[in-house]
Amino acid sequence: MEVVIMADSHGVDVVAASRVADIVATKDSPVLGVATGSSPQGLYRQLQGMVGAREIAFSDATAFALDEYVGLPESHPASYASVVAETVTQPLGFAAENVHVPLVRGDPPDKVAARYDTAIARAGGVDLQVLGIGANGHIGFNEPTSSLASRTRVKTLSAQTRHDNARFFASPEDVPTHCITQGLATILEARSIVLVASGAAKAAAVAAAVEGPLTAMVPASVLQTHPDATIIVDEQAASRLQLAEYYRYTYQHKHIVQ
Ligand code: F6R
Repeated sequence: MEVVIMADSHGVDVVAASRVADIVATKDSPVLGVATGSSPQGLYRQLQGMVGAREIAFSDATAFALDEYVGLPESHPASYASVVAETVTQPLGFAAENVHVPLVRGDPPDKVAARYDTAIARAGGVDLQVLGIGANGHIGFNEPTSSLASRTRVKTLSAQTRHDNARFFASPEDVPTHCITQGLATILEARSIVLVASGAAKAAAVAAAVEGPLTAMVPASVLQTHPDATIIVDEQAASRLQLAEYYRYTYQHKHIVQ
């Protein structure tokens, strides 16, 4: 894993956006995996600026959301369908028909989940997956003890995730109890992965994911097995990394050896 430590969350957004732009520039029809939540919002705004400056374009790109709540109307402002439409599809100029969210829409959730993996494969797989990380070490909604070999499926949200996401709902009881999430094995099939995290609340999860053992108790630790995973964090999110100095040194000297 490459670990990049920036002074603040703005630095995280800038480095992550340039990584996305590099990959988008090399593909005719890039396929992006997009996280929701707070972490990637600055990255998406950076990309919007680059689209406005005509440095990149997503008109021929496809996007797959990481996850969606089950039991929440698609039109609810906290549904990931709404969030992806507002923060990715519209501002970045994706064609709406190229943006996919695992929506139940009256179908059996298990079937929707299985079809989602098929749709990703039919699109040629994900070129770049953008991830955030939960304070409990989840990626997507793969909560602790998720199988490292899991595929897209229905999951029960942990109490901590429902608590953490209550800020997007009128009351904590309104947070759905279930979701459909890409599995850990699904996520690992992306050709490149960029995880962004800022703030002290993520420090323990980042340290466990990067430097702890590979364990289903910290689902993000599975990224240690990916050949092209970049973890971009601010100083606060990096504050519990034992090898922070080494990561800084490596990043500063990256271009010297290339
Ligand atoms: C979002 C997702 C989650 C979030 C994580 C961090 O689609 O799958 O894994 O990335 O919960 O959320 P924030 O960024 O809101 O702290």
